[in-house]
Amino acid sequence: MATNKQILFNKPYLTGLESELVLDSINSYGHCGNRGYGQKCIELLKERYGFHDVFLTPSCTSALEMGALLADLKPGDEVILPSYTFSSTANAIVLRGAHPVFCEVEPNTMNIDVDRIEGLITERTKMILPIDYAGIPCEIERIMEIAKNHNLTVLQDAAQSTHSKHKNGKWCGAVPPLAAFSFHETKNFTCGEGGALIVNDPDLVQRAHFLQEKGTDRSLVLKGVKSKYSWVDMGSSFLLADILAAMLLTQLEHADEMTAKRAKVTRAYNELFAPFDTNGSVQIPHPPDGVELNHHAFFVIFDTEDHQQQFIDKLRQVNIFAYIGYMPLHSSPFGRKLGYKAEDLPITEDLASRIVRLPFYADLAEDGLDYTIENMNTVMNEIYE
Ligand SMILES: Cc1ncc(COP(=O)(O)O)c(C=O)c1O
Repeated sequence: MATNKQILFNKPYLTGLESELVLDSINSYGHCGNRGYGQKCIELLKERYGFHDVFLTPSCTSALEMGALLADLKPGDEVILPSYTFSSTANAIVLRGAHPVFCEVEPNTMNIDVDRIEGLITERTKMILPIDYAGIPCEIERIMEIAKNHNLTVLQDAAQSTHSKHKNGKWCGAVPPLAAFSFHETKNFTCGEGGALIVNDPDLVQRAHFLQEKGTDRSLVLKGVKSKYSWVDMGSSFLLADILAAMLLTQLEHADEMTAKRAKVTRAYNELFAPFDTNGSVQIPHPPDGVELNHHAFFVIFDTEDHQQQFIDKLRQVNIFAYIGYMPLHSSPFGRKLGYKAEDLPITEDLASRIVRLPFYADLAEDGLDYTIENMNTVMNEIYE
């Protein structure tokens, strides 16, 4: 089918107010972190989502690093995380000299398989670091219960799940002591590069300020508690510039309308793939009952690698760009250096070899969805005729 149409894998959504707000930030002469727009984003996130405190960071990667510092991870500590995740999840652990202990995922959500966590706990385990793949909330209540029973802390890598809700009615990021969000271009709400560390444990808030401000107590000077600031702890520059926070604010303010558009894309994909899921040709996401999705992404796990590749190749011929997912971390070159072998996590290895992530962005709901569904339908019928 000859066409000029092109369906990208991802396209950032613009509310239309970004340039006005960014210009306003520029003209405010308050450009650094935690200034006017930064504070507005923090207030919005706290009020809307019930977070105790929020630290805007340059990325989710840096929020995870700050979270690992705040949790006091040390050399020799072990952290349990899924192997099916982005490198940043594991880097936050490795950068502290701690050891990532990779856990299998379960295929309905591609999130950490909670039934296997306890089997990985040793006397060195310090933390559980689950992610919310494709915006599907992990089973945080069960993870918190395990953490409580074994005196562990939890840092939720919620890079993909801003505006998703757990089945207990709490927003992603609101439950554990620490959580990290991403506002990267590929995420639902973006300012190009950006992130946030959510600190729900009040005992950690003071130190989070020190870590964010290069290990200084500058925050106490800004509060009027001290007249001069000094070096009081380790730290880094974990701050988001106000100019970026200005863009982020309008994105967060339009969360509901953006999510409604994304929901339309999920509905269309579900409708198309459900019969193939029922007859066992593929497997699509089956989020737990009662969760609310931010509709970040949609995946399809094919029955064979050959069908996966055919699907990607045939769609590319009609300018529709679908991609394979993450390469599992345990069998990646660095995972192998840490001593892992592909056979250590056979379930993750197998699922990752057959998964495809479909094009997903808010504007697709209004332009290109029919074209995408029609072509995917044709391709699926060709593959499984
Ligand atoms: C699960 C997960 N964690 C962390 C990150 C890193 O986010 P950022 O690009 O904001 O550093 C990503 C990015 O895709 C991610 O998917």
